[in-house]
Amino acid sequence: MNDIAEGPEELTDAQKRTLYRDGFVVLKGVVPKEMTHRARRLANITAGKILNGTMEAPERRNRFMGAETEITDLINKTAMSKILQSTMGPFDPPTHGFSPVLYPVESSDDIGIHGVADRDVPWHGCYLHLDGQWTGPIPQRPDEVDDWHVPGTPHFGDRSAKVIGTNGTPFFQDPACTLSLGSFTTFVGVALSDQSVFGYGNFAVLKGAHHHTAAFIRQQREKGGVIGPEGYGWPRLRQVGDRVGLNYLPAAIAEPFKANARYTPDGAMWLEPTPLLVEEGDTWIALHGVPHSATRNDAGADPRISAYFRLRRHRPDGVPVRGDSDHPDRGWEGEFLAYPEGYDPWKVAIERLCDPWSEWDGMKEVVAAEGKA
Ligand SMILES: [Fe+2]
Repeated sequence: MNDIAEGPEELTDAQKRTLYRDGFVVLKGVVPKEMTHRARRLANITAGKILNGTMEAPERRNRFMGAETEITDLINKTAMSKILQSTMGPFDPPTHGFSPVLYPVESSDDIGIHGVADRDVPWHGCYLHLDGQWTGPIPQRPDEVDDWHVPGTPHFGDRSAKVIGTNGTPFFQDPACTLSLGSFTTFVGVALSDQSVFGYGNFAVLKGAHHHTAAFIRQQREKGGVIGPEGYGWPRLRQVGDRVGLNYLPAAIAEPFKANARYTPDGAMWLEPTPLLVEEGDTWIALHGVPHSATRNDAGADPRISAYFRLRRHRPDGVPVRGDSDHPDRGWEGEFLAYPEGYDPWKVAIERLCDPWSEWDGMKEVVAAEGKA
């Protein structure tokens, strides 16, 4: 498949305004069915091998396939390539994506990393978070926690930038430990199966919260200290009932969205998300700053299959970006990369987190017209 599939080359003005206001936009029917078929078939073949024991399950959730052309072609050989170039700007064609399969499940009593029984988490288990955060084993009970803001129990190793989570994300991005949040420009999804009903394993977002994310990061910068978890207003851990959870979303970003929130018996608040109701071949473009979550496939009859990409607009002197990593300023395994002398990738990352629209060449007019950053 050498040709680029036909399709629109840029977003309409209305779609750009949606992207600006909501932080994401859904594009209907962009990827041809023969390409979703090819990718979905590969995902099912791979999942089948893991289920029948002829292949080892990936160590990390995000490693489920991704380097195959069946997956990367979904961007590189479709209209998405041109749409992203015209909206965002030049970017490295992804060499990797990831394509997790969510089988139908019955909600369970399992306690997740958020510290609440799976069946008790409303909105089909939606646990909103910002990408780029260290995830790993943490204290289980509040009395094990030595410090909610800056925890220092052995779970967190020596708390250096060399500590890597079970999700592959470093505890701190930079050696000086001033940035604890990995980042990129856009999270792109391609629906490979029907997700038109909430409960079919949808990707869900906190619509419009990207404005609050950028404002919050700017506030952290103004206050000084760490950017990300452990910085101003963002304790790394939070108490959830009599348990402990990672604090994936700072209160300052969540607070404006609590109108329709539900509460679990332990008093924890669960914000109402917007599920993406999409069909095979639909895609979406979302900003890094939009809190989001996978949700349970607890109503569907079929596996939910999507392909995801984390892409970044070219940064002068920046390193090549693979397309799947939430910490593209470090290597996939967390290794430190070589940069030209005088280039500070962490400083640039913080600037972009504070001004995300600076990485969207094709959005300048809309951003100026809408009037706020
Ligand atoms: Fe995520």
